[in-house]
Amino acid sequence: MLVAGNWKMFKGPGETLAFCRALRAVPRPADVDVVVCPPYVSLAEAVQVLAGTEVGVFAQNCHWADDGAFTGEVSASMLLELGVYGTIVGHSERRQLFGETDEAVGRRARAALDAGLDVIACVGETEAERDAGETEAVLRRQVSALEHDDNLVIAYEPVWAIGTGRTATPEMAQEAHEIVKSVLDVPLLYGGSVKPENARELLAQPAVDGALVGGASLDLPSFEAICRAGSRS
Ligand code: PGA
Repeated sequence: MLVAGNWKMFKGPGETLAFCRALRAVPRPADVDVVVCPPYVSLAEAVQVLAGTEVGVFAQNCHWADDGAFTGEVSASMLLELGVYGTIVGHSERRQLFGETDEAVGRRARAALDAGLDVIACVGETEAERDAGETEAVLRRQVSALEHDDNLVIAYEPVWAIGTGRTATPEMAQEAHEIVKSVLDVPLLYGGSVKPENARELLAQPAVDGALVGGASLDLPSFEAICRAGSRS
């Protein structure tokens, strides 16, 4: 079971230090892998404070080139130099707000994996796509842009459930996860308004191997509660 907190554009270095010190001090279930994904500018603090713990520090994106004229981008080798363990790619906010295509997401994932980072690649349909009955086709297209890798995890995040307080029903999550798994058999996270109140039920679905948590990961007690909900013990 993996529970990853995607902080998005929240928590600068100061807040990251405080959060990670507190996170370090709390007991975590042994059967749940915990990951935090701070913004780039806070990664060094997170790596420093969480060194020697089992908590992984991931970035929120990663460019495919090793270096070059790519203003605003960061490469896998730079992340590795910092001690970062992995990265998210293809988050729906990157796809929707910054125009990232399936092809770009596939290149980012491949380069990060080849460099030695773990990758959480996000997929998911919009509300209009779901209403039009296109969920399966969209998921198949997005997942097909990725290649199998032992260090790849996919997060199914229906866009209409992100930050909205609406979650997929456990059955919807299970169904989408089966589609994803039929294309690429890698561990699968559910994401989209995961909260302490709904985490146990979502994480109990057989095809759900963990959660990618946005808003509820910013508050330590709620993040901890979600991590505990992922424990089978
Ligand atoms: P949310 O975000 O938990 O705030 O809905 C999830 C995500 O975007 O990864």
